[in-house]
Amino acid sequence: MVQVTPFLLVLFLALGAHGLSVEKKCSLLGRWVNDLGSNMTITTVNGNGVFVGSYHTAVTATSNEIQLSPLQGSLQKSPNQKSQPTFGFTVRWSFSDSITVFTGQCFVDEYGKEVLRTMWLLRSHVESIKNDWKATRVGTNVFTRLQSQE
Ligand code: BTN
Repeated sequence: MVQVTPFLLVLFLALGAHGLSVEKKCSLLGRWVNDLGSNMTITTVNGNGVFVGSYHTAVTATSNEIQLSPLQGSLQKSPNQKSQPTFGFTVRWSFSDSITVFTGQCFVDEYGKEVLRTMWLLRSHVESIKNDWKATRVGTNVFTRLQSQE
């Protein structure tokens, strides 16, 4: 009995700790940086999951001077994906004729860090329908949080 008691105590604490563990929620709000060095700030997410923010790209397909550009998006609010939601947003570039749409998911990784895994389509403006075939680029970006909200 004397040897069994510490084992039971450890088992009880382990199960208790597991039972009490709370799933960390991935939130889009705040400042993010991606693998290209672009910065994104999501300033508000409303009750319907509609969000707005700004995007400062580190790169451009144009020869124009890069400027801060607005973004608008939507977060999926379905009950079974509350902690790691899917989302989409559009960046209307202020300094070019292009538009980029991003789609992705907000994950909490194995270290408890939030990460946004995204794919994007960058649509450039072309002068003629004959050039439509070369107007869209596709890629992926991974965003990590720049600064905590605290
Ligand atoms: C343009 O060049 O017309 C506008 C800027 C496009 C920047 C693209 S959007 C996808 C990729 N991810 C980034 O952070 N920047 C580039």
